[in-house]
Amino acid sequence: MIVYASLVHKLPVGVLGASGYAGRELCALIARHPGVELAFASANERRGERAVLGGREVTFVAPDDARLDRAALVFSALPHGASSAWVTRAREAGAKVVDLSADLRPGSGSTMAAPYGLTELEREAVQSADVVANPGCYPTAVLLALLPLLVRGLVAPGGTISVVAASGVTGAGFTPRHDLLFAEVAEDYRPYAVGNTHRHLAEMTAVMRRLGSDADLIFTPHLLPVARGILATITVPLAAPLADVLAPWREQYAGEPFIEVVDSVPALRDVVRRNVVRITAKPVAGVRSPTLLVVSAIDNLVKGAAGQALQNGNLLLGLEETAGLPA
Ligand SMILES: NC(=O)c1ccc[n+]([C@@H]2O[C@H](COP(=O)([O-])OP(=O)(O)OC[C@H]3O[C@@H](n4cnc5c(N)ncnc54)[C@H](OP(=O)(O)O)[C@@H]3O)[C@@H](O)[C@H]2O)c1
Repeated sequence: MIVYASLVHKLPVGVLGASGYAGRELCALIARHPGVELAFASANERRGERAVLGGREVTFVAPDDARLDRAALVFSALPHGASSAWVTRAREAGAKVVDLSADLRPGSGSTMAAPYGLTELEREAVQSADVVANPGCYPTAVLLALLPLLVRGLVAPGGTISVVAASGVTGAGFTPRHDLLFAEVAEDYRPYAVGNTHRHLAEMTAVMRRLGSDADLIFTPHLLPVARGILATITVPLAAPLADVLAPWREQYAGEPFIEVVDSVPALRDVVRRNVVRITAKPVAGVRSPTLLVVSAIDNLVKGAAGQALQNGNLLLGLEETAGLPA
């Protein structure tokens, strides 16, 4: 019914936090979407400002002026802590919600019923949901890379998975920070949140436990002097050597429109501005225990945020999952 209706008129969707990096990406995707149109776009300090997003001029309204009741679906691209109250308000106004913040994700302690929107893992739950907790950017890159190993029990019991990942600076959001000034970031490369202190660790570990894995995770993010993109290099101890190394990924992701399992090592340029994750795996030579190196790459603002949110939004609205998404 909704699919038919969308052929006749576009479904109204709203974006809270539309002046931020994730929100602007969402507005640009919505502008080019065949089945939805922008009902409102909110900002906080930048309320009243205008921007051209996806070729359309948008005026940011104050959150209190956003007509939640006119939207079939609301994307909340608000900061952690500020988002969950708006999820509740949007639900009370009758809209479905995709929350891009960490407020409702696994490991957050939230009790609100919201499936985890790692679409390739939770597609059926997302389809029948009213609220979806969109995954974090690093967890998207890491969990989609690990999923085929975790669900098959191929990781060495009690083993330690080590993730070295690097993100472009849009991952930190639009709020100005001295350590993110061009002169501080350009021509440099550095880790942050060292010693397992990054907030995404709880989300990744919670999902790994749900999948039955007891592995430890060491997660070391790095700041990369580019605007967008995440590349994760993951060392995995195996229970036993794999005869066909890529078989778990090819089997798990057969027919998936946004997952590319490749023989060559992924690079950011393969994935930037696309709603895809590109993954490979290689056996590690010269070590005593069977070990794999898994590499995955995403655009943090597309598959890691707005693109995946729209993928989930399409499912919530009964639209084609791939509609309006750059493959
Ligand atoms: N950036 C990424 O790569 C990425 C990836 C995955 C998930 N996420 C998540 O997506 C959300 C947005 O991230 P972002 O990077 O786009 O952040 P951002 O660039 O800092 O944008 C935040 C947005 O929220 C608005 N805002 C801030 N405080 C507010 C408040 N108290 N009430 C209402 N609106 C408020 C801002 O308006 P003003 O511009 O007017 O201040 C802006 O529109 C976060 O929860 C983040 O964790 C981000």
